[in-house]
Amino acid sequence: MKGIILAGGKGTRLEPFTKLLNKHLLPVGSAPMIYWPINKLKEAGITEILVITNTQHLGAFQEILGNGEKLGVCLSYAVQSESGGGIADALACAKNFVEDQCVVLLGDNLFDDHLKPFIEDFKNQPQGAKVLLKEVMDPERYGVALLDETNHIILSIIEKPKSPTSNFCVTGIYFYNKEVFDLIDFLQPSSRGEKEITDLNNLYIKRKQLDFDILKSWWLDAGTHEALFKANQHFYERS
Ligand code: DAU
Repeated sequence: MKGIILAGGKGTRLEPFTKLLNKHLLPVGSAPMIYWPINKLKEAGITEILVITNTQHLGAFQEILGNGEKLGVCLSYAVQSESGGGIADALACAKNFVEDQCVVLLGDNLFDDHLKPFIEDFKNQPQGAKVLLKEVMDPERYGVALLDETNHIILSIIEKPKSPTSNFCVTGIYFYNKEVFDLIDFLQPSSRGEKEITDLNNLYIKRKQLDFDILKSWWLDAGTHEALFKANQHFYERS
């Protein structure tokens, strides 16, 4: 299985730093943010990794990460032509990279759980996709999954709902097969002009093909100043 890290977007919630630097290159502990998701893939035995970013920041990624050799992985790069075209639009850039199945990480998602067991489960999943959820106190900041826990089914996902109906947030850790690229072609941009990952995952729900698991350990979306501070605290305290 191959790995994909999405590291485009505008990072507006982390301005003014992101006016100059890509969000995923900001410091977290002793390393740029993107080192941690790369490390998570490597720890799970995924060493062929595609980093998707935008034209403006491609050079910085290449300078800092190179071909990945020093990190023990093999990195390649793709450029999302429309900066901020949406998470699903960024993922579409991986069409020629993926052979059968892939694990997709949002580059600002930091977590402690090991990916290996989830990857092994997905390898045995005959079709569809899988998302990882986390119980949070502030679900309105995320995609929120409504569950039928008895039957282990996701009934719906709503992106940043004003009145969340559950505390289960959909983290930026996704598993797809190659068919995902046909579904992305089919997606229409949302009212904010983005191809939304939540719309993509809801297509899988309609087909009854979206499995899920729940993260047990620490997880954080480091996309705000406060979260970036907490991420730094976490990685310093750990080391
Ligand atoms: O962190 C989990 C959440 O991430 C999910 O619960 C939401 O359903 C999902 O939409 C996403 O929400 P965010 O508001 O945090 O998304 P953000 O715009 O911050 O984008 C997340 C990452 O995706 C970002 O670090 C880089 C990548 N990205 C994003 C966009 C919009 C791209 O590569 N290209 C893009 O055009």
